[in-house]
Amino acid sequence: MATSSAQHIPVIAIDGPSGAGKGTASMLVARRLGFHLLDSGAMYRVAALHILRSGLKDQPIERIVEAVTSMRARFDTSGDDGVRVLLDQDDVTLELRTEETGGMASEIASEPAIRSALLTTQHTMRQLPGLVADGRDMGTAVFPDAILKVFLTASAEERAARRQRQLNQQGKQVTLESLLQDIQARDSRDTNRTVSPLKPAADALIIDSTGVSINNVVDHILSVWHERR
Ligand code: DC
Repeated sequence: MATSSAQHIPVIAIDGPSGAGKGTASMLVARRLGFHLLDSGAMYRVAALHILRSGLKDQPIERIVEAVTSMRARFDTSGDDGVRVLLDQDDVTLELRTEETGGMASEIASEPAIRSALLTTQHTMRQLPGLVADGRDMGTAVFPDAILKVFLTASAEERAARRQRQLNQQGKQVTLESLLQDIQARDSRDTNRTVSPLKPAADALIIDSTGVSINNVVDHILSVWHERR
């Protein structure tokens, strides 16, 4: 749980499935409000990369949790293009976005011991003047007292098409079918796990971004935020 001394610090939780636009929306909302940004997916991804790089994939869970707890990861949110992540001083921002790292992140995210290992770091990022927290369980489990909880979603087809455009821009060719399959598999794993499954908080504002521009999504979130303040 968040420490009582941090509870007066406002949090906007933005949860939802991969590719719904949470990352960009969270970054833009944080920038417009001058808030800190927590990309919790990047935390799971860097933990996954650390496990893959250290060859610990098939080790007992205790050994994996120990490695995740002691990994040296840094999240730099000062730039204009999202969170930059350093692992052992090495800039791994791009490597975190590969399908392999994403798949592994989704696998380890179903382990309760991994989730609690990352929880303390997530709570320490709640700092003045406020925090925009992007993930799957920000509103349901990590910051249940968030002032505004958004569940941002989009159809699986649109999310696959967005991912394909991103990969094409990086010069990578991947078929829409395989991306759609990956997205559906990850959605199913994230939604059906027993610990902190992907689901809207009971009091979440649900926004479907299918066919909606990111600027409209951001304006919608900010207008609700200003109403509630
Ligand atoms: O948002 P993302 O695609 O970067 O997240 C990578 C994986 O991490 C995703 O498959 C599920 C997991 N995750 C999670 O379980 N809880 C969070 N708060 C954030 C991410």
